[in-house]
Amino acid sequence: MAGLSGTTEPMKVQGKHYRSIRAVAPGIIEVIDQTRLPLEFELCQLRSAGETADAIRSMLVRGAPLIGATAAYGVAMAMRDDSSDAALKEVVAMLGETRPTAVNLHWALARMHALLGNTPASERADAAWEEAGRICDEDVAINEAIGREGLELIREAHTRHPERPVRILTHCNAGWFATVDWGTATAPIYMAHAEGIPVLVWVDETRPRNQGRITALELQQQGIAHEYVVDSAGGHLMQHGLVDMVITGCDRVTARGDVCNKIGTYLKALAAFDNEVPFYVATPGPTIDWQLQDGLKEIPIEARAATEVSCISGLSESGALSTVRILADTTAVRNDAFDVTPARLVTELITERGRCAASALAMTALYPEQAGRA
Ligand code: MRU
Repeated sequence: MAGLSGTTEPMKVQGKHYRSIRAVAPGIIEVIDQTRLPLEFELCQLRSAGETADAIRSMLVRGAPLIGATAAYGVAMAMRDDSSDAALKEVVAMLGETRPTAVNLHWALARMHALLGNTPASERADAAWEEAGRICDEDVAINEAIGREGLELIREAHTRHPERPVRILTHCNAGWFATVDWGTATAPIYMAHAEGIPVLVWVDETRPRNQGRITALELQQQGIAHEYVVDSAGGHLMQHGLVDMVITGCDRVTARGDVCNKIGTYLKALAAFDNEVPFYVATPGPTIDWQLQDGLKEIPIEARAATEVSCISGLSESGALSTVRILADTTAVRNDAFDVTPARLVTELITERGRCAASALAMTALYPEQAGRA
């Protein structure tokens, strides 16, 4: 895919604005096959709850907010076929089992369940479709607001050092592909770029799955300077004063501010702490699990396929997307997909309601309606 110049609009691929999920016809949504990114860009249509579940399970769609939005449409599709109480219960349970860690999935399903439980069966299909659309639109608004809040931090860093780009390290892909639009960790970066602030983004998550490649693709499409670095390079860059701030996304944040995100995030936070580099987490409200406190003990960590580690995919000499094994087939593999960064290592959460310390007190000040639950 060719590079593009910067944009002040939500995200584009080859100059065309896409949302990572959109309704194209009654009962049909279009998504991007993210298992092929960044090497191939292919749209595909999902037409049933089963297809949405498969897409989430296989990571054809991925990223906490996008998983939630896709599941909401999955419920709506099921309601078109059978809007009974039993069918509602069944589809919510089925979709809830697709991925364990990102809480947005369960948040979206609970929201759909609550709404439809109070809707007559004859009206459920339409109500569900509209609600799924609202979840998508709200995600875009949340990310835009996170962008504005995070932009302040980049502006301040630029004011301190106007002579050079603001150097931001991000881990994995918490960009627009992982959300409906804008991304969470990337939204402040896109806004800073649009404002003319020079930025340089250090991009990683090179293992197990190379999801940093998706972030690199996004940044390239928006014309933003970035360099791809191996996961173990972050601490070294910080020691040499080459990182002004870290901004990551999250899959689940507990009520006291522990942050679960892609494996390797914790090590970045430790290195940031040791080097006095601020560590920010772009945190949409729906990613906060107000029922949990101790992230390390309570957040379920997904164990993903050993092949993510034992194999690697890319383009072969003939240009075909292919996968090769890099380990002896006798080597045992463990592949925990996420880790937990304790709240004490987080400088601030960047939410759609403002920035706050990663603490129960500060979080409930921004979300007072959750105070009783936290
Ligand atoms: O390997 P993935 O794609 O499942 O990892 C996703 C992430 O960790 C993202 O950073 C997270 O879902 C936040 S998306 C805004």
